[in-house]
This record gives sequence, structure tokens and C-alpha cells, in this order.
Amino acid sequence: MKDRIEDIIKKVSQFSADNQSEIEKFRIQFLGKKGIIPELFKEFKNLPPAEKKVTGILLNELKKLVQDKVDLSKKKLADKRKFSINLDLTLPASQIIIGSRHPISMVRREIIDIFSKLGFTISQGPEIEDDWHVFSALNFPPEHPARDMQDTFFISKDPDILLRTHTSSVQVRVMETTSPPIRTISPGRVFRNEVISARSHCIFHQIEGLYVDENVSFADLKQTLEFFAKEYFGEETKIRLRPSFFPFTEPSGEMDVSCSCKGRGCKLCKYTGWLEVLGCGMVDPNVLSECNIDPSKYTGFAFGLGIERIALLKYHINDIRLYFENDVRFLNQFTGII
Ligand code: DAH
Repeated sequence: MKDRIEDIIKKVSQFSADNQSEIEKFRIQFLGKKGIIPELFKEFKNLPPAEKKVTGILLNELKKLVQDKVDLSKKKLADKRKFSINLDLTLPASQIIIGSRHPISMVRREIIDIFSKLGFTISQGPEIEDDWHVFSALNFPPEHPARDMQDTFFISKDPDILLRTHTSSVQVRVMETTSPPIRTISPGRVFRNEVISARSHCIFHQIEGLYVDENVSFADLKQTLEFFAKEYFGEETKIRLRPSFFPFTEPSGEMDVSCSCKGRGCKLCKYTGWLEVLGCGMVDPNVLSECNIDPSKYTGFAFGLGIERIALLKYHINDIRLYFENDVRFLNQFTGII
């Protein structure tokens, strides 16, 4: 009996099957009620005790081998099915949807690139500021409306901590810590207590520019802004400066650029042929003194622009809220621009 079992073990070791019915046939043949193994166990009972030990070990080995073969074959079959279902390697790959840069990030990058050609470096300041950097050092009188809760988000009174309403605060931070020559732009987020509408939002982005050195003149300011306008809006763009007022610049101005409708008049420029782009001026000597820069030796110019507005003019976006809604139908339109 021992030899027979050894023979069967050899045969079983070579068994392999790749379909369900062969595996089942094999299992019934060996493990079924009237299968080979139960029959061998019956025979085993009648063996003389001397042979029982060795034969018993062999018989159990055979039983385990058969069971392992059945289990392994079933697993192989299942794996094969799993990997072969609908696997067509010639099919085109499914499309990967690539995101795009946000228009605000793109425009900020573009503006930074333009001014860096003129040697402007980037500086940054905190969004949570004190009254001094946002208002006092910038020559805002105590009763100025911007200091009112209606217009500014105050975090605490005494000390006056607030969300900056403009990036002009970074001018002060730079001038406090750097001696001229200074040539810097400061991009960042600003906050105003405004009702949200198609034209205004309580959060938006600005870029502040500052140039302080000996003999900086209004002509330098005009040249710099004209260079920016032509680079950003196109070589044929014209600029005009209108007198204006800001507490921190004297004289102050606002710059318009010619509309791409070329004076024919369109909705964007409200049929004026001009688009208002930024505020600017010569840094008020009071501001220089507040920041410990000698106004008898140095002069400077500054300007500030809203990134949302600049992007709106370039891409003809008619609602500022679109920038903040993360609507992919809007954002997808900027895929591949930069
Ligand atoms: N801070 C101004 C604003 O938020 C913009 C501005 C105007 C900045 C004139 C300047 C400037 O530096 O000279 O409306």
C-alpha cells in the first residue's frame, strides 16, 4: 500500500488544470465520498499495526497535497479571470484632465515679469496689519473714511489691528527696513468691507510698486507705466494720466490705457475709448519722513493696481465674483494660456 500511495503522490504532484470542470473532476476523483483518498483510509484501518505509522504519514501527505492542488488551481483560475476581463491593450488611454493656472495667478506672474525686466524685486508684507502701516504712516488723516468700520475689517481696537485694505502698507514696511535705492513691487491680497457684487468684492488682489532714489521724477513714473502698459496690453497701447488724490502721494494721478476698440467705443470702455487701470503718484515727503528716509535727499514714485481689474480688462470678464467661485467652466477657458 505504501508503494501505491507514493505512486499516487508522484502523479498528483504533476497535476495542473486551467478550467473549472477539470479541477472539480480532480477533486471528486480524490476527495469525493467514494474517491481515492477515502477508499485508501478504509484500507488503512485494516493494516497490520507495524505498517500503520509510515503509511499514515504518507496518506496524510497525499491528502494535503490534493487539497493544496485544488486550492491553488482555483486561485490561479480566479486571478486569470480578474486580469483578463475587458483588458484591451490596444484601447486609447483614458484622458487625464489637466488643471490650469487661475487667471489671477497668471496675470500676477505676467505683471511681475514685466516689472522685473526693469529691475523691480518682489517684497511682501502681512495681511493682518496695524493701523500704522496701513494708514498713519501713509498720511491718512485721523478722520479718513477708510479708518471707519464700514470700510475696513478691524480685528481689534487699541491696539488697532486690521486686515490691510491695500498693499501700500508694504511700501512702509520696505522703507522702514531698507535704505534707498529701492525698486520693488508687492503683490498680495487685500480686504475691504464691501457688498459683494459683479463689480466689487471684499477680497481682491493688488500689486504695489515703489521706486525711491535720488532725483526720481514724474517723468520716470510715466516712462515706467508706459513700458508696463505696452508690454501688458500691446505695443500700440497709449496711456493718459489724469490728476487724482491719494493721501500718500503728491501729486497723485490715475492712469488710463487706450481701449482695444481703438476709440470706436465699446461696452468695456463705456464708449470713452479709455480704461482706468491704476493709481499712482510721487511719494509724499511726509511718508518718506515717517519711514526715516530723508525727503530732502530722496524722492520716489509709487503706483498700485488691482489684479482682478487688469485681468478683467484683458479677458473681458464681466463679473468679479467669477474669480472666486471655482467654476471649472470659467477656469477651463484659461487652460493653456500661459
Ligand atoms: N492704495 C491705493 C488703493 O488701494 C492704490 C494706489 C494709488 C497705490 C496710488 C499707490 C499710489 O502706490 O501711488 O486704491
